Amino acid sequence: MANPSLLILPGDGIGPEVMAQVERVIDWFAANRDLAFDVSTDLAGGCAYDAHGTPLTDATMAKAQEVDAVLLGAVGGPQYDDLDFSLKPERALLRLRKEMDLFANLRPAQCFDALADFSSLKRELVAGLDMMIVRELTSGVYFGEPRGVTHEGNERVGVNTHRYTESEIARVARAAFELARKRSNRVCSMEKRNVMEAGILWRDVVQEIHDAEYPDVELSHMLADAGGMQIVRAPKQFDVILTDNLFGDMLSDVAAMLTGSLGMLPSASLGLPMANGRPKALYEPVHGSAPDIAGQDKANPIACILSFAMALRYSFDEGANADLLENAVQKVLADGVRTGDLMGPEGGTPVGTVGMGDAILAA
Ligand code: NAI
Ligand code: MG
Repeated sequence: MANPSLLILPGDGIGPEVMAQVERVIDWFAANRDLAFDVSTDLAGGCAYDAHGTPLTDATMAKAQEVDAVLLGAVGGPQYDDLDFSLKPERALLRLRKEMDLFANLRPAQCFDALADFSSLKRELVAGLDMMIVRELTSGVYFGEPRGVTHEGNERVGVNTHRYTESEIARVARAAFELARKRSNRVCSMEKRNVMEAGILWRDVVQEIHDAEYPDVELSHMLADAGGMQIVRAPKQFDVILTDNLFGDMLSDVAAMLTGSLGMLPSASLGLPMANGRPKALYEPVHGSAPDIAGQDKANPIACILSFAMALRYSFDEGANADLLENAVQKVLADGVRTGDLMGPEGGTPVGTVGMGDAILAA
Protein backbone atom coordinates (compact mmCIF):
# COMPACT_ATOMS: atom_id res chain seq x y z
CA MET A 1 0.00 0.00 0.00
CA ALA A 2 1.22 3.50 -0.80
CA ASN A 3 2.43 5.65 2.08
CA PRO A 4 -0.04 8.27 3.33
CA SER A 5 0.70 11.69 1.87
CA LEU A 6 1.39 15.02 3.57
CA LEU A 7 1.61 18.50 2.10
CA ILE A 8 3.76 20.77 4.27
CA LEU A 9 3.23 24.53 3.99
CA PRO A 10 5.74 26.14 6.39
CA GLY A 11 4.65 29.71 5.53
CA ASP A 12 6.26 32.85 6.94
CA GLY A 13 8.11 34.15 9.99
CA ILE A 14 8.56 31.41 12.61
CA GLY A 15 6.46 29.02 10.47
CA PRO A 16 9.49 27.46 8.70
CA GLU A 17 11.45 27.33 11.98
CA VAL A 18 8.83 25.38 13.92
CA MET A 19 7.95 23.23 10.89
CA ALA A 20 11.62 22.20 10.54
CA GLN A 21 11.28 20.52 13.94
CA VAL A 22 8.13 18.71 12.82
CA GLU A 23 10.03 17.45 9.76
CA ARG A 24 12.63 15.97 12.10
CA VAL A 25 9.83 14.24 14.04
CA ILE A 26 8.40 12.87 10.78
CA ASP A 27 11.84 11.51 9.86
CA TRP A 28 12.11 9.93 13.33
CA PHE A 29 8.84 8.03 12.88
CA ALA A 30 9.98 6.77 9.46
CA ALA A 31 13.30 5.57 10.88
CA ASN A 32 12.11 4.17 14.21
CA ARG A 33 8.44 3.25 13.91
CA ASP A 34 8.15 2.08 10.33
CA LEU A 35 5.68 4.92 9.77
CA ALA A 36 6.60 6.66 6.53
CA PHE A 37 4.81 9.50 4.78
CA ASP A 38 5.17 10.83 1.26
CA VAL A 39 5.96 14.44 2.04
CA SER A 40 5.85 17.36 -0.36
CA THR A 41 6.56 20.96 0.60
CA ASP A 42 5.20 24.13 -0.96
CA LEU A 43 4.72 27.86 -0.47
CA ALA A 44 1.70 29.51 1.14
CA GLY A 45 1.18 33.01 2.48
CA GLY A 46 3.61 35.89 2.09
CA CYS A 47 6.37 33.66 0.69
CA ALA A 48 4.01 32.51 -2.07
CA TYR A 49 3.11 36.12 -2.81
CA ASP A 50 6.82 36.97 -3.09
CA ALA A 51 7.44 34.07 -5.48
CA HIS A 52 4.21 33.99 -7.50
CA GLY A 53 2.28 37.20 -6.78
CA THR A 54 -0.50 35.28 -5.03
CA PRO A 55 -0.73 33.87 -1.46
CA LEU A 56 -1.76 30.43 -2.76
CA THR A 57 -1.35 29.21 -6.34
CA ASP A 58 -3.97 27.01 -8.01
CA ALA A 59 -1.36 24.26 -8.23
CA THR A 60 -0.78 24.32 -4.46
CA MET A 61 -4.54 24.38 -3.87
CA ALA A 62 -4.96 21.34 -6.12
CA LYS A 63 -2.21 19.49 -4.24
CA ALA A 64 -3.90 20.28 -0.91
CA GLN A 65 -7.08 18.64 -2.23
CA GLU A 66 -5.25 15.43 -3.11
CA VAL A 67 -3.12 14.71 -0.05
CA ASP A 68 -4.21 12.87 3.09
CA ALA A 69 -3.38 15.85 5.31
CA VAL A 70 -1.97 19.37 5.08
CA LEU A 71 0.40 20.72 7.77
CA LEU A 72 0.65 24.51 7.92
CA GLY A 73 3.11 26.62 9.95
CA ALA A 74 1.95 30.23 10.04
CA VAL A 75 1.45 33.00 7.51
CA GLY A 76 1.75 36.77 7.49
CA GLY A 77 4.07 39.56 8.53
CA PRO A 78 4.29 43.35 8.67
CA GLN A 79 5.82 43.60 5.19
CA TYR A 80 2.47 42.42 3.75
CA ASP A 81 0.22 44.75 5.76
CA ASP A 82 -0.38 47.18 2.91
CA LEU A 83 -1.30 44.56 0.30
CA ASP A 84 -4.77 44.52 -1.16
CA PHE A 85 -7.14 42.33 0.92
CA SER A 86 -7.29 39.67 -1.83
CA LEU A 87 -3.49 39.30 -1.83
CA LYS A 88 -2.89 39.16 1.92
CA PRO A 89 -1.10 36.08 3.29
CA GLU A 90 -4.15 35.19 5.42
CA ARG A 91 -6.13 34.64 2.21
CA ALA A 92 -4.12 31.44 1.73
CA LEU A 93 -5.63 30.03 4.90
CA LEU A 94 -9.13 31.20 4.08
CA ARG A 95 -8.91 29.67 0.60
CA LEU A 96 -7.69 26.34 1.97
CA ARG A 97 -10.49 26.23 4.56
CA LYS A 98 -13.16 27.22 2.06
CA GLU A 99 -12.17 25.04 -0.90
CA MET A 100 -11.41 22.00 1.27
CA ASP A 101 -14.73 22.72 3.07
CA LEU A 102 -13.13 22.34 6.50
CA PHE A 103 -16.23 22.73 8.64
CA ALA A 104 -15.02 21.19 11.91
CA ASN A 105 -12.35 23.13 13.80
CA LEU A 106 -10.76 21.15 16.64
CA ARG A 107 -9.11 23.13 19.40
CA PRO A 108 -7.79 21.08 22.32
CA ALA A 109 -7.22 22.65 25.72
CA GLN A 110 -4.72 20.34 27.32
CA CYS A 111 -2.78 21.24 30.43
CA PHE A 112 0.60 19.65 30.83
CA ASP A 113 1.35 19.13 34.51
CA ALA A 114 4.66 20.96 34.38
CA LEU A 115 2.92 24.09 33.05
CA ALA A 116 -0.10 24.13 35.36
CA ASP A 117 1.21 27.23 37.15
CA PHE A 118 1.03 29.17 33.85
CA SER A 119 -2.75 28.92 33.95
CA SER A 120 -4.96 31.79 35.02
CA LEU A 121 -6.72 29.24 37.26
CA LYS A 122 -5.50 27.38 40.31
CA ARG A 123 -3.25 24.41 39.59
CA GLU A 124 -5.71 21.81 40.95
CA LEU A 125 -8.45 23.03 38.59
CA VAL A 126 -6.34 22.57 35.45
CA ALA A 127 -3.67 19.91 36.15
CA GLY A 128 -4.49 16.99 33.88
CA LEU A 129 -7.08 18.97 31.88
CA ASP A 130 -7.67 17.48 28.42
CA MET A 131 -10.73 18.76 26.62
CA MET A 132 -11.49 19.42 22.98
CA ILE A 133 -13.70 22.12 21.51
CA VAL A 134 -15.24 21.29 18.14
CA ARG A 135 -16.30 24.55 16.51
CA GLU A 136 -18.40 24.71 13.35
CA LEU A 137 -16.21 26.78 11.02
CA THR A 138 -17.94 27.48 7.71
CA SER A 139 -21.46 28.67 8.54
CA GLY A 140 -23.47 30.51 11.20
CA VAL A 141 -23.54 34.21 11.94
CA TYR A 142 -20.16 34.94 10.32
CA PHE A 143 -21.54 33.88 6.93
CA GLY A 144 -25.35 34.20 7.07
CA GLU A 145 -27.26 36.49 4.71
CA PRO A 146 -28.56 39.17 4.83
CA ARG A 147 -25.70 41.12 6.35
CA GLY A 148 -24.39 44.65 6.26
CA VAL A 149 -24.81 48.14 7.64
CA THR A 150 -27.93 49.84 6.28
CA HIS A 151 -30.05 52.84 7.08
CA GLU A 152 -33.49 52.78 8.66
CA GLY A 153 -35.09 56.19 8.94
CA ASN A 154 -32.37 58.44 10.24
CA GLU A 155 -30.15 55.87 11.92
CA ARG A 156 -27.76 53.10 10.87
CA VAL A 157 -28.54 49.43 11.42
CA GLY A 158 -25.95 46.63 11.57
CA VAL A 159 -27.27 43.24 10.44
CA ASN A 160 -25.90 39.71 10.65
CA THR A 161 -27.87 36.52 10.28
CA HIS A 162 -27.36 33.49 12.46
CA ARG A 163 -28.38 30.68 10.11
CA TYR A 164 -27.75 26.93 10.17
CA THR A 165 -29.14 24.22 7.93
CA GLU A 166 -29.89 20.77 9.25
CA SER A 167 -27.10 19.22 7.15
CA GLU A 168 -24.52 21.74 8.39
CA ILE A 169 -25.35 20.84 11.98
CA ALA A 170 -25.45 17.12 11.26
CA ARG A 171 -22.01 16.93 9.68
CA VAL A 172 -20.20 18.78 12.46
CA ALA A 173 -22.11 16.73 15.04
CA ARG A 174 -20.86 13.54 13.37
CA ALA A 175 -17.30 14.90 13.50
CA ALA A 176 -17.67 15.52 17.25
CA PHE A 177 -19.15 12.07 17.95
CA GLU A 178 -16.42 10.34 15.90
CA LEU A 179 -13.83 12.27 17.87
CA ALA A 180 -15.44 11.40 21.20
CA ARG A 181 -15.17 7.70 20.35
CA LYS A 182 -11.38 8.15 20.11
CA ARG A 183 -11.32 9.95 23.49
CA SER A 184 -13.47 9.59 26.63
CA ASN A 185 -16.70 9.09 24.68
CA ARG A 186 -18.52 12.18 25.99
CA VAL A 187 -19.94 15.15 24.06
CA CYS A 188 -21.46 18.30 25.54
CA SER A 189 -23.29 20.38 22.92
CA MET A 190 -23.66 24.12 23.57
CA GLU A 191 -26.14 26.55 21.98
CA LYS A 192 -28.68 29.19 23.05
CA ARG A 193 -31.99 27.44 22.43
CA ASN A 194 -33.62 29.65 25.07
CA VAL A 195 -33.32 32.73 22.84
CA MET A 196 -32.38 31.52 19.32
CA GLU A 197 -34.34 29.36 16.86
CA ALA A 198 -31.08 28.21 15.27
CA GLY A 199 -30.18 26.98 18.77
CA ILE A 200 -33.40 24.94 18.98
CA LEU A 201 -32.62 23.30 15.63
CA TRP A 202 -28.99 22.77 16.70
CA ARG A 203 -30.04 20.88 19.84
CA ASP A 204 -32.67 18.80 18.02
CA VAL A 205 -30.38 17.75 15.16
CA VAL A 206 -27.46 16.90 17.49
CA GLN A 207 -29.81 14.75 19.60
CA GLU A 208 -31.25 13.01 16.49
CA ILE A 209 -27.81 12.20 15.05
CA HIS A 210 -26.79 10.89 18.45
CA ASP A 211 -29.83 8.65 18.89
CA ALA A 212 -29.66 7.27 15.34
CA GLU A 213 -25.91 6.82 14.85
CA TYR A 214 -23.95 7.29 18.10
CA PRO A 215 -26.10 5.98 20.98
CA ASP A 216 -22.91 4.66 22.66
CA VAL A 217 -21.57 8.21 23.14
CA GLU A 218 -22.69 10.07 26.27
CA LEU A 219 -24.41 13.30 25.13
CA SER A 220 -25.37 16.31 27.24
CA HIS A 221 -26.57 19.81 26.33
CA MET A 222 -25.73 23.13 27.94
CA LEU A 223 -26.61 26.73 27.23
CA ALA A 224 -23.48 28.39 25.84
CA ASP A 225 -23.33 31.16 28.45
CA ALA A 226 -23.62 28.65 31.30
CA GLY A 227 -21.00 26.58 29.44
CA GLY A 228 -18.63 29.55 29.53
CA MET A 229 -19.04 29.70 33.30
CA GLN A 230 -18.45 25.97 33.67
CA ILE A 231 -15.29 26.08 31.52
CA VAL A 232 -13.66 28.48 33.97
CA ARG A 233 -15.28 27.00 37.11
CA ALA A 234 -14.57 23.31 36.59
CA PRO A 235 -13.01 22.65 33.15
CA LYS A 236 -12.15 19.02 33.85
CA GLN A 237 -15.84 18.03 33.66
CA PHE A 238 -15.62 18.30 29.84
CA ASP A 239 -14.30 15.93 27.17
CA VAL A 240 -15.60 17.06 23.74
CA ILE A 241 -17.55 20.32 23.51
CA LEU A 242 -19.55 20.75 20.29
CA THR A 243 -20.65 24.25 19.40
CA ASP A 244 -21.31 26.68 16.56
CA ASN A 245 -19.01 29.15 14.85
CA LEU A 246 -19.70 32.19 17.05
CA PHE A 247 -19.78 30.50 20.45
CA GLY A 248 -16.88 28.26 19.45
CA ASP A 249 -14.73 31.25 18.53
CA MET A 250 -15.10 32.66 22.03
CA LEU A 251 -15.17 29.47 24.07
CA SER A 252 -12.07 28.03 22.37
CA ASP A 253 -10.06 31.17 23.14
CA VAL A 254 -11.29 31.12 26.75
CA ALA A 255 -10.38 27.47 27.13
CA ALA A 256 -6.96 27.99 25.52
CA MET A 257 -5.96 30.47 28.18
CA LEU A 258 -6.51 27.86 30.89
CA THR A 259 -3.42 26.10 29.62
CA GLY A 260 -0.66 28.71 29.31
CA SER A 261 1.36 29.77 26.27
CA LEU A 262 0.25 30.36 22.70
CA GLY A 263 3.38 28.40 21.79
CA MET A 264 1.69 25.22 23.10
CA LEU A 265 -1.65 25.26 21.24
CA PRO A 266 -2.33 22.98 18.26
CA SER A 267 -5.43 22.81 16.07
CA ALA A 268 -7.04 20.76 13.34
CA SER A 269 -9.68 21.63 10.75
CA LEU A 270 -11.54 18.68 9.26
CA GLY A 271 -13.90 18.24 6.32
CA LEU A 272 -15.89 15.40 4.85
CA PRO A 273 -14.38 11.92 4.46
CA MET A 274 -12.48 11.37 1.18
CA ALA A 275 -12.74 8.20 -0.91
CA ASN A 276 -10.14 6.50 1.33
CA GLY A 277 -12.24 7.23 4.43
CA ARG A 278 -9.88 9.88 5.82
CA PRO A 279 -11.36 13.35 6.37
CA LYS A 280 -10.03 16.32 4.43
CA ALA A 281 -7.68 17.80 7.01
CA LEU A 282 -5.49 20.79 7.80
CA TYR A 283 -3.35 20.84 10.95
CA GLU A 284 -1.75 24.04 12.24
CA PRO A 285 -0.63 25.76 15.43
CA VAL A 286 -2.97 28.44 16.77
CA HIS A 287 -0.21 31.06 16.87
CA GLY A 288 0.81 33.34 14.00
CA SER A 289 4.14 34.08 12.35
CA ALA A 290 5.52 35.96 15.40
CA PRO A 291 7.67 38.47 13.45
CA ASP A 292 9.03 39.82 16.77
CA ILE A 293 11.01 36.60 17.38
CA ALA A 294 11.36 35.21 13.82
CA GLY A 295 14.82 34.13 12.67
CA GLN A 296 16.25 34.05 16.21
CA ASP A 297 15.80 30.40 17.19
CA LYS A 298 13.38 31.50 19.93
CA ALA A 299 10.03 30.09 18.78
CA ASN A 300 8.49 27.22 20.70
CA PRO A 301 7.91 24.38 18.20
CA ILE A 302 5.57 22.42 20.51
CA ALA A 303 2.29 23.84 19.10
CA CYS A 304 3.34 22.72 15.62
CA ILE A 305 4.61 19.34 16.87
CA LEU A 306 1.35 18.72 18.77
CA SER A 307 -0.54 19.62 15.57
CA PHE A 308 1.31 16.76 13.90
CA ALA A 309 0.34 14.53 16.85
CA MET A 310 -3.29 15.44 16.10
CA ALA A 311 -2.71 14.45 12.46
CA LEU A 312 -1.41 11.06 13.62
CA ARG A 313 -4.47 10.56 15.81
CA TYR A 314 -7.27 11.95 13.66
CA SER A 315 -6.13 11.41 10.06
CA PHE A 316 -4.00 8.30 10.31
CA ASP A 317 -5.48 6.27 13.19
CA GLU A 318 -2.05 6.29 14.80
CA GLY A 319 -3.28 6.89 18.34
CA ALA A 320 -0.40 4.95 19.91
CA ASN A 321 2.18 6.99 18.01
CA ALA A 322 0.32 10.21 18.86
CA ASP A 323 0.51 9.18 22.54
CA LEU A 324 4.22 8.50 22.13
CA LEU A 325 4.82 11.98 20.75
CA GLU A 326 2.63 13.72 23.34
CA ASN A 327 4.35 11.77 26.13
CA ALA A 328 7.73 12.89 24.81
CA VAL A 329 6.56 16.51 24.99
CA GLN A 330 5.23 15.92 28.50
CA LYS A 331 8.54 14.40 29.62
CA VAL A 332 10.61 17.24 28.19
CA LEU A 333 8.44 19.78 30.01
CA ALA A 334 8.60 17.78 33.24
CA ASP A 335 12.41 17.76 32.90
CA GLY A 336 12.31 21.58 32.94
CA VAL A 337 13.31 22.17 29.30
CA ARG A 338 11.94 25.62 28.43
CA THR A 339 11.77 27.91 25.41
CA GLY A 340 11.53 31.58 26.37
CA ASP A 341 7.72 31.69 26.31
CA LEU A 342 7.60 28.87 28.92
CA MET A 343 10.20 30.29 31.27
CA GLY A 344 8.50 31.01 34.59
CA PRO A 345 9.80 32.15 37.96
CA GLU A 346 10.85 28.59 38.84
CA GLY A 347 13.40 28.68 35.99
CA GLY A 348 14.46 25.69 33.95
CA THR A 349 16.88 24.73 31.20
CA PRO A 350 16.67 27.42 28.50
CA VAL A 351 16.60 26.15 24.93
CA GLY A 352 15.86 27.54 21.48
CA THR A 353 13.65 26.13 18.76
CA VAL A 354 16.19 23.54 17.62
CA GLY A 355 17.13 22.64 21.20
CA MET A 356 13.48 21.93 22.00
CA GLY A 357 13.35 19.71 18.91
CA ASP A 358 16.50 17.90 20.07
CA ALA A 359 15.01 17.30 23.52
CA ILE A 360 11.72 15.96 22.15
CA LEU A 361 13.49 13.61 19.74
CA ALA A 362 15.73 12.36 22.57
CA ALA A 363 12.69 11.73 24.78
P1 NAI B 1 1.40 35.77 16.88
O1 NAI B 1 0.71 34.56 17.32
O2 NAI B 1 2.28 35.66 15.70
O3 NAI B 1 2.27 36.35 18.11
C1 NAI B 1 1.70 36.80 19.32
C2 NAI B 1 2.78 36.80 20.43
O4 NAI B 1 3.02 35.45 20.84
C3 NAI B 1 4.11 37.36 19.96
O5 NAI B 1 4.72 38.06 21.02
C4 NAI B 1 4.91 36.13 19.62
O6 NAI B 1 6.31 36.29 19.77
C5 NAI B 1 4.37 35.10 20.61
N1 NAI B 1 4.41 33.74 20.03
C6 NAI B 1 3.59 33.26 19.05
N2 NAI B 1 3.93 32.01 18.73
C7 NAI B 1 4.96 31.68 19.52
C8 NAI B 1 5.77 30.50 19.65
N3 NAI B 1 5.56 29.42 18.90
N4 NAI B 1 6.78 30.51 20.56
C9 NAI B 1 7.00 31.60 21.32
N5 NAI B 1 6.28 32.73 21.25
C10 NAI B 1 5.28 32.78 20.35
O7 NAI B 1 0.27 36.89 16.63
P2 NAI B 1 0.42 38.38 16.06
O8 NAI B 1 1.67 38.99 16.55
O9 NAI B 1 -0.87 39.00 16.34
O10 NAI B 1 0.52 38.22 14.48
C11 NAI B 1 1.77 38.18 13.76
C12 NAI B 1 1.47 37.84 12.30
O11 NAI B 1 0.94 36.52 12.22
C13 NAI B 1 0.46 38.76 11.64
O12 NAI B 1 0.85 38.96 10.31
C14 NAI B 1 -0.84 37.95 11.69
O13 NAI B 1 -1.69 38.30 10.66
C15 NAI B 1 -0.30 36.55 11.52
N6 NAI B 1 -1.17 35.50 12.08
C16 NAI B 1 -1.23 34.33 11.40
C17 NAI B 1 -1.96 33.28 11.89
C18 NAI B 1 -1.93 32.00 11.14
O14 NAI B 1 -1.09 31.81 10.26
N7 NAI B 1 -2.78 31.06 11.46
C19 NAI B 1 -2.72 33.38 13.15
C20 NAI B 1 -2.52 34.63 13.83
C21 NAI B 1 -1.79 35.65 13.29
MG1 MG C 1 -10.99 33.88 18.00
